[in-house]
Amino acid sequence: MCGIVGAIAQRDVVPLLVDGLKRLEYRGYDSAGIAVVVADSVRRVRRTGRVAEMEAAALAEGLGANLGIGHTRWATHGGVTESNAHPHISDGELALVHNGIIENHEAQRERLRALGYAFESQTDTEVVAHLIHHHRKQGVSLLAALQATVKELHGAYALAVIDKRDPATLVTARMGCPLLIGLGEGENFVASDVSAIVSATRRVIFLEEGDTAELTCDGVRVFDASDAQVMREVHVSEVSLASLELGPYRHFMQKEIHEQPRAIADTVEGILDAGGFDAALFGKDADAVLADVASVQILACGTSYYAGLTARYWIEAIAGLPCAVDIASEYRYRSVVGNPKQLVVTISQSGETLDTMEALKYAKAQGQDKTLSICNVPESALPRASKLVLHTRAGAEIGVASTKAFTTQLVALFTLAVTLGKLRGRVDTAQQADFLNALRHLPGSVQHALNLEPQVALWAEKFAPRQHALFLGRGTHYPIALEGALKLKEISYIHAEGYPAGELKHGPLALVDTQMPVVVIAPNDALLEKVKSNIQEVRARGGEMFVFTDADSSFSASEGVHVIRTPRHVGILSPIVHAIPVQLLAYHTALARGTDVDKPRNLAKSVTVE
Ligand code: M6R
Repeated sequence: MCGIVGAIAQRDVVPLLVDGLKRLEYRGYDSAGIAVVVADSVRRVRRTGRVAEMEAAALAEGLGANLGIGHTRWATHGGVTESNAHPHISDGELALVHNGIIENHEAQRERLRALGYAFESQTDTEVVAHLIHHHRKQGVSLLAALQATVKELHGAYALAVIDKRDPATLVTARMGCPLLIGLGEGENFVASDVSAIVSATRRVIFLEEGDTAELTCDGVRVFDASDAQVMREVHVSEVSLASLELGPYRHFMQKEIHEQPRAIADTVEGILDAGGFDAALFGKDADAVLADVASVQILACGTSYYAGLTARYWIEAIAGLPCAVDIASEYRYRSVVGNPKQLVVTISQSGETLDTMEALKYAKAQGQDKTLSICNVPESALPRASKLVLHTRAGAEIGVASTKAFTTQLVALFTLAVTLGKLRGRVDTAQQADFLNALRHLPGSVQHALNLEPQVALWAEKFAPRQHALFLGRGTHYPIALEGALKLKEISYIHAEGYPAGELKHGPLALVDTQMPVVVIAPNDALLEKVKSNIQEVRARGGEMFVFTDADSSFSASEGVHVIRTPRHVGILSPIVHAIPVQLLAYHTALARGTDVDKPRNLAKSVTVE
C-alpha cells in the first residue's frame, strides 16, 4: 500500500526520491508526490497515476534540493485526486507524508478548524500536518512539535516531515506502520521499505513502535515513546538489488515464478544447515515453546491463508495435532476460546498485513503466548511480535500476485509439521531422512513443472475469452485449487472459484456448461479415483476439463478432457509442485488478456489497512 521515502543530503535528493518511489511502486498505489525544501520555500509536485508522470512533472519544474520527502498513495480517506495525494502542506511552511490511518481525524479536524486552519483535502493525513504546524507556533522545534502531535493521534502512522524554517532537518515517527532509517555517508534517509533506499545504503535502523527520530546530514537521533533518546541497533540489509530488478523477464511475476527452484532450495538449505528438523530452526526458545503444544491455530490472509490450509493436512497427519486455520480478519472479531498450550502460527509474505498482525495481538490477549511467525521479511512486524520465527528465503517478492512466497511458505510449514511430529515421538529417524530427501528433490521437481510452461500457455489462450472458471482439487490439492482460482481472478480479472471436488454436486455443478472451463488438480494419490468420478460429473454436463495429473497416473485425455502431465508423483510434497502450473495458467491468461500483471487493478502488495 502507501510508500514513504525521504532524504537529507549534500547532493540533489530528487533523483533519489523518484528512484525510491519507483521501487515502492510494487506495493500498489494510485497517486504519487514529492515535496522539497529549497530556497526558503516548500515546493511540491503531485500526480494521480504512475510515478513516471509525477517524475516528468518534477523535471519540467526543475525541482532540485538537498532535503525532500516522497510518497505513493493507495486511497483510503478521500478519492484518487491530486489534492488528496501526499505530501500535504500546512500554511506553505511544512510538508508531510503519512502511511496508516488516523482514527481520530474527525475530532482533530474540528479542533483545527476552530483554530483557523482550512482543509484542502478529504484525507485523515492533512490534520497531522496542521497539528504539527499548530505546535510549531508555540515556538518549539520541528521534532518537539512532531512529538507533541503524535501524542494526540489515535491510529496507525509512519510519518516524515520537512519544514522550510529548518532546512537542515527531517523528522519522522512510527506507530503501527513500518518505518526505517537508512544511514549513509554525510546523508541519511527514511523509508517504509528498505527497497526504496537500498541503492544508497544498506545500513538501516528499524524504528520501534512509538519512536520518533531527527535526521540531519551528519547524524540521526532516535527517541522512544516517552521522548527519551535511545540507541537502536544498526542492521545491514540483505535485500539484493538484483531481486528488485526485472532482468530479462517481462514481468516480476514471471521472474518470481521462475525463481521458485532457487527460492525453495535456499529455504531447504536453511533447514539442512540447522541439521534437519530441529526445534532450534525456529529460534533459541523453540524447545520450550514447542515442547507441550496441544494444538495449532494458523492465522493468515489470501495466499498465505491457503498455505495454512495445506499445512493443516500435514500437521494433523504428521504431528497428530488438531489444527485450525482462520482468515485473520475473521478470527480477530470472533469470541475465540484461548488455550495457552496452543501454538499460534501467523503466515505472511510481507510481515506487515494489518489483519494478521491484529489477529496475533488478539490471540495473545487470550493468553496464548506460544507464537510463531512464518515470514519472508525478517525485520517486519509479525516476526518481531512472535516468540519464534521461521524465515522463508524467497527473496524480495515484487509482483502483487504471490508465487515464490507461497511455495516457500509450504516448505516452512511442512518443516514445522515434521518438527512437531518428531518432538511428539511420531516421526522416527528413518522417516525424517525420507522427508529430508523429499525436500532435497523438490527444487528439481518444481523445475520440471516449470518446463510445462509452453503447454500451459496454450491452455491460457482458451481461458482468455472466458468470463468464469472453476478449480477443483481434493485433500492437500484442494487449497491449490483455491490458490489457482485466486491467482486467475487477481491478475486476469476472470471470475474463478476453487472447490473441493467432492462438493461439486452440492451446488457448483449448477454452473457447469460449455462456457465454464473446469481446472482439476488430480495427482496420482489416494483420492485419484474419487476425483475421476467428479470429472465424469462435469463431462456429463458438457463442461470442458483441464486436468493437471502426474506423469505416472493412468489418467488420459479424451474429448473435452485436456491433460497436462506434471512430474512423477512426489508424494506428500505434491501440492507444492502443483502450485506451479496454476500460477503459469493465471500468468499466461493475464498476458493474453493484456492486463497489468504485476500491478492488478485495485490491489496492493502489502495490505496495511483493515
Ligand atoms: O503479505 P501477506 O502474505 O500477509 O499477504 C496476504 C495477502 O494479502 C496476499 O497473499 C494476497 O492474497 C496476494 N496478493 C495473493 O496473490
